[in-house]
Amino acid sequence: MKKPGSQVTIAMDGPAGSGKSTVARRIAEKLGLLYLDSGAMYRAVTLLAIQEELAADNPKLIDRVKACHIEFTDNGRTILLDAEDVSKQIRTPAVNRLVADVAKIPEIRREIVKHQQRIGAEGSIIAEGRDLTTIVFPNADFKFYLDASVTERAKRRLADLQAQNIDATLAAVEAEIRERDEKDTTREHSPLRAADDAIIVDTTDKAIEDVVDFIAHVCENKQGRERRRGF
Ligand code: C5P
Repeated sequence: MKKPGSQVTIAMDGPAGSGKSTVARRIAEKLGLLYLDSGAMYRAVTLLAIQEELAADNPKLIDRVKACHIEFTDNGRTILLDAEDVSKQIRTPAVNRLVADVAKIPEIRREIVKHQQRIGAEGSIIAEGRDLTTIVFPNADFKFYLDASVTERAKRRLADLQAQNIDATLAAVEAEIRERDEKDTTREHSPLRAADDAIIVDTTDKAIEDVVDFIAHVCENKQGRERRRGF
């Protein structure tokens, strides 16, 4: 998937609430890159399963995923599922609960990965998720693995939900995150793990701006291949 000329691929993985989406979005703006939120694609097909009342392991869901059209607009801020804007619907607790079960189905992953690689071939990109550094873009120019304590991640998610007027408690969000972490890291296909050549960034006590500056600095100074120390 290596692209010609000066096109750059930045891949970033990490668990829910590690700061990946916020950081990747800001880096995309700062460095003028395409932004790919791979989790949004798994969320969109999970919404499809809910809407069509198909269990995650129902083979009909695989056919439906093959036939559906997922597209990003507004540089990754808006996601269209069969031309309908589902950007808000994919962030509900119902989708949060089911998404890891849908994302562990290998045939569904295969379809989504192909789509992500096609998007990645279009130009310079920053892509984030669970398997971007290991499976989707194993030859990325820069790889990062973002992490934070479970409590910190739960606090961030709770703030996101509250900002959308969705009711939740810290305990419930933390339990949901733990469960999703467990499923994402232990699944058979493409489990979440730090790639051997990824730079590990612990965001627990860091301001988002500092993380953005660090990552932008590494990429702008082309330290990806040489620098293996964390931040
Ligand atoms: O990143 P986000 O929390 O939106 O991802 C939602 C879920 O989608 C994850 O918990 C995981 O189950 C799945 N996912 C995945 N591979 C990716 C991105 C997300 O399996 N690359």
